[in-house]
Amino acid sequence: MRTLYFESYDRMSKYAADMIAAQIRQKPDSVLGLATGSSPLGIYRELIGLYESGQLDFSQVTTFNLDEYCGMDYRNEQSYHYYMQENLFSKINVPASNIHLPDAAAADPDAECLSYERSIEQAGGIDLQLLGIGHDGHIGFNEPDSHFPAITHRTMLAEPTIQANRRFFASQDQVPKEALTMGIGTIMKARKILLIAFGADKEEIVRQAFTGPVVPAVPASVLQLHPDVTVLYGK
Ligand code: F6R
Repeated sequence: MRTLYFESYDRMSKYAADMIAAQIRQKPDSVLGLATGSSPLGIYRELIGLYESGQLDFSQVTTFNLDEYCGMDYRNEQSYHYYMQENLFSKINVPASNIHLPDAAAADPDAECLSYERSIEQAGGIDLQLLGIGHDGHIGFNEPDSHFPAITHRTMLAEPTIQANRRFFASQDQVPKEALTMGIGTIMKARKILLIAFGADKEEIVRQAFTGPVVPAVPASVLQLHPDVTVLYGK
């Protein structure tokens, strides 16, 4: 595991974007695992900049997002589908047919999860998975005490996550309580993992996850067992 400390969010984002760009240049048909939330916004801005200046081509890239809120239509502004369109996909040349997010409005969520997992396998597996980390140590929506080998599945969000997401919704009862998420088993199969965390509020969980024991109570700690993880953090 490589851990790098940054004093600036922008510098951390640029470093991460350069890693993703290097992955795409080395393998133009890379399969990327992507995250939402506030942490990756700077990376997405950098990637858009590289595309606009002709330095990066996404035409053969395939993407799989980590998660989506249950029951959320893709046109809803709070959905992760909408977030990805707004913050990345509509501004680069990744083909729409290469973009994947779990369909959390599917009539049969369990079948959707299995089919999502199968699509990742059929695409050849994830080359580089981008992750943020929740204050409770979640990755994707794998909350504390998640089953380490789990594949894509439907899950309940933990109370701290619901509270952290509250800022994006008009009222408490609009905050989703369930999501479809890649499992820890799905994430651990990625060939490379890049986790980003910025801010004093993430300092303690980063310390627990990457210098403490590997325990289900801190889901991100499992990444210590992965052979190719880079953690970028700072405040
Ligand atoms: C988002 C995701 C979550 C976030 C985590 C951190 O797709 O899977 O695990 O990465 O909640 O969110 P931010 O970056 O908003 O602090």
